[in-house]
Amino acid sequence: HNHIDHATPEKVQQAIAANHTHPTIPDYETLAAYRAEGGYGVLRDLRASGDWEVVQAQVKQSGLRGLGGAGFPSGTKWGFVRANPGPRYLAVNGDEGEPGTFKDRHYLERVPHLFLEGMLIAAWAVEAERCYIYMRDEYPAVLEILRREIAALEEAGIAEPGHIELRRGAGAYICGEESAMIESIEGKRGMPRHRPPYVAQVGLFGRPTLVHNVETLHWIARICREGPEVLSATTHNDRVGLRSYSVSGRVARPGVYLLPAGSTILDIIDAAGGMAEGHVFKAFQPGGPSSGLLPASAADVPLDFDTLQPLGTFIGSAAVVVLSDQDRARDAALNMLRFFEDESCGQCTPCRVGCEKAVKLMQAERWDAGLLSELCTAMADASICGLGQAAPNPILSTIKHFPEEV
Ligand code: NAI
Ligand code: SF4
Repeated sequence: HNHIDHATPEKVQQAIAANHTHPTIPDYETLAAYRAEGGYGVLRDLRASGDWEVVQAQVKQSGLRGLGGAGFPSGTKWGFVRANPGPRYLAVNGDEGEPGTFKDRHYLERVPHLFLEGMLIAAWAVEAERCYIYMRDEYPAVLEILRREIAALEEAGIAEPGHIELRRGAGAYICGEESAMIESIEGKRGMPRHRPPYVAQVGLFGRPTLVHNVETLHWIARICREGPEVLSATTHNDRVGLRSYSVSGRVARPGVYLLPAGSTILDIIDAAGGMAEGHVFKAFQPGGPSSGLLPASAADVPLDFDTLQPLGTFIGSAAVVVLSDQDRARDAALNMLRFFEDESCGQCTPCRVGCEKAVKLMQAERWDAGLLSELCTAMADASICGLGQAAPNPILSTIKHFPEEV
């Protein structure tokens, strides 16, 4: 989540060159290996004689919620999309751009067919004519794996040629916002649309579109193969299910950890091997910069959907970044606002000008908390999309939890 300078033509050329070199392909589960252990059997049976409402009921029973970060109930979404007449599409959001989030990549580089089978099951459930996978270009190995495995699926007759289209993003964070992603797939500049209408009604090429995140589809395949209990059987701290936490920062072993959904930050730091040597736990980002910062005193709170509302924040994509006594919350918050300033699509004034103004105000030795809070209110109230609405969170949470620093 380091601050990235504005792109210069030289940097763009370097980035393009870097992505055109051959990536190292990790040792992942191929189609043959996946099929050898029963993979695509569920899809075959569903296509032959399945009832989409039975699958929807299983997905609902599992408690699965959208794992891009919004936590919208996945089964309910299928009903919204089906309520609109076809042709319908499915668009996969693989633009995992929230700084600190790398769980989708983790699964795609290991078990890509769980995702691909989940996608084909969801496409079957809403009778989608085509699947568009929007994958971030910063994951060259994932792109190569998907190219190979989609070709293998076509060759095996599991997917019709042309049914799955792989699209490369171009490094814009805003293209992970679902309507901006849809604009980008349509070949336009990626800028969020006003909602409503939701993409379930008017999505890709004006048609009803089911948008799911990569990990959500991974779990749909697992629910269909192993039953809803694969999620619903785990309870911890009164929360049900599992969560893939992307853990980075001052921990001994950064990585993706699949833990009970009710895990606290202390459980998560434990799973990541404890704090890095010489560091004392001070603060953490629970779910990407959009979720701001929490102090170490929030150590007892389960990090799940809904549980962070009393603290004025949310778990989002579960991108946990741990800060230590060697970090200042105000520096982390400034870094986050610089990121939002760079990534704002510029379409609406409160976000475009607000992020820029906030960065300037946050560089002062002493923050003008009153003025910053007023600016935050304008940004949160008047921005079109989640970027501008959530950009104030790092500022407000720093003022609230780390007043001594500002
Ligand atoms: P949202 O809650 O507005 O929508 C979530 C999903 O539910 C969307 O697909 C939306 O179309 C659908 N939906 C909501 N209400 C609906 C209705 N009445 N009818 C039909 N469909 C409906 O949240 P949004 O703005 O899509 O996502 C925000 C989240 O994204 C944040 O919590 C943040 O954590 C996360 N995020 C994740 C990133 C990542 O890299 N994974 C990057 C940036 C943000
Ligand atoms: Fe673009 Fe920001 Fe407005 Fe979102 S809030 S549409 S990123 S200017």
